[in-house]
Amino acid sequence: MKAVAQAHTNIALIKYWGKRDEALFLPMNSSLSITLDRFYTTTGVQFCKDLSKDIFMLNGELVNEQELAKMTRFLDIIRNYAGVQEHAIINSTNKVPTAAGFASSASGYAAVAAASTKALGLELGGKELSMLARRGSGSATRSIFGGYVEWQKGEREDGSDSYAKQILGEKEWGLTILSVLLESKCKKVSSREGMKRTVETSPFYSGWLDTVEHDIYSAKEAIRNHDFDQLGKVSEANALKMHATMLGATPPFTYWQSGTLAVMERIQELREEGISAYFTIDAGPNVKVLCMPNDEERVRAALLHMSEVEDIYSCHPGPGITYLPESTMRM
Ligand code: DP6
Repeated sequence: MKAVAQAHTNIALIKYWGKRDEALFLPMNSSLSITLDRFYTTTGVQFCKDLSKDIFMLNGELVNEQELAKMTRFLDIIRNYAGVQEHAIINSTNKVPTAAGFASSASGYAAVAAASTKALGLELGGKELSMLARRGSGSATRSIFGGYVEWQKGEREDGSDSYAKQILGEKEWGLTILSVLLESKCKKVSSREGMKRTVETSPFYSGWLDTVEHDIYSAKEAIRNHDFDQLGKVSEANALKMHATMLGATPPFTYWQSGTLAVMERIQELREEGISAYFTIDAGPNVKVLCMPNDEERVRAALLHMSEVEDIYSCHPGPGITYLPESTMRM
């Protein structure tokens, strides 16, 4: 009744932006990401007969009622799937700088899905795990797998064909992803709320839907051919397009801050200087920069010179779910 699993965060190159079913976390479009080696969550789950409610510890502290309710809602899905009723102790450690605005929901829910199903003795394959992780947070669907991953949106209403697949293993193509941390204020619109508002109100959203599947096709072709420039171009364009949909929402919003724009401009300048580097941005002000490993130091040095840049974390493609010995986490 006890297991420990580790899951890594991922950065989407072709973004998931919008749900067609909010309860089942079914996306409007397919998406594609790279799982990152540097940021991860380790979670131990133990189901116990004696507990009257779930207990959720994050980084050594009990979470607040709201966070606990979210976890219980997710565990209810797992309990329902497994046909059990026991509550659980969940002990998670995040090696994700969440305070700096890096999302941990992808690695967080992927790790809980893996640890809790293993604790209950279910032997799930990647496809089933990915569908369960999806019910916690859309981006968690992709964190089950390592390397380059596609989440196919699926067509069915029950979500049984909406799961992720690995396209290329983490060791098969070594890109660098620089996570550029900016001096930032708190995030005002969550990705969940932001995508909902965009789907419901932005006249630009139909343009997003019209073109995103083609972006997926182009990104997959680039990955298959190890064509870095093709992948960088389509990723940067896709990120800009996603952020453009928000400007058309009612009320309009943007995650960009002045530092975000400054880094975007600097990357474009570096390209003019002959360095192949491209950016992508999620639902926050920080920027992720894609480059080839042999350009990493030059790109890093150029960005560290900027007053807006607080820190840079260098990431590479990382692994999917791994299970650790139970002794790694005291419950
Ligand atoms: C911009 O997975 O955080 O990072 O499914 O509501 O939990 P929920 O949203 P979440 O959204 C991620 C949005 C994104 C793009 C992406 O990761 O594909």
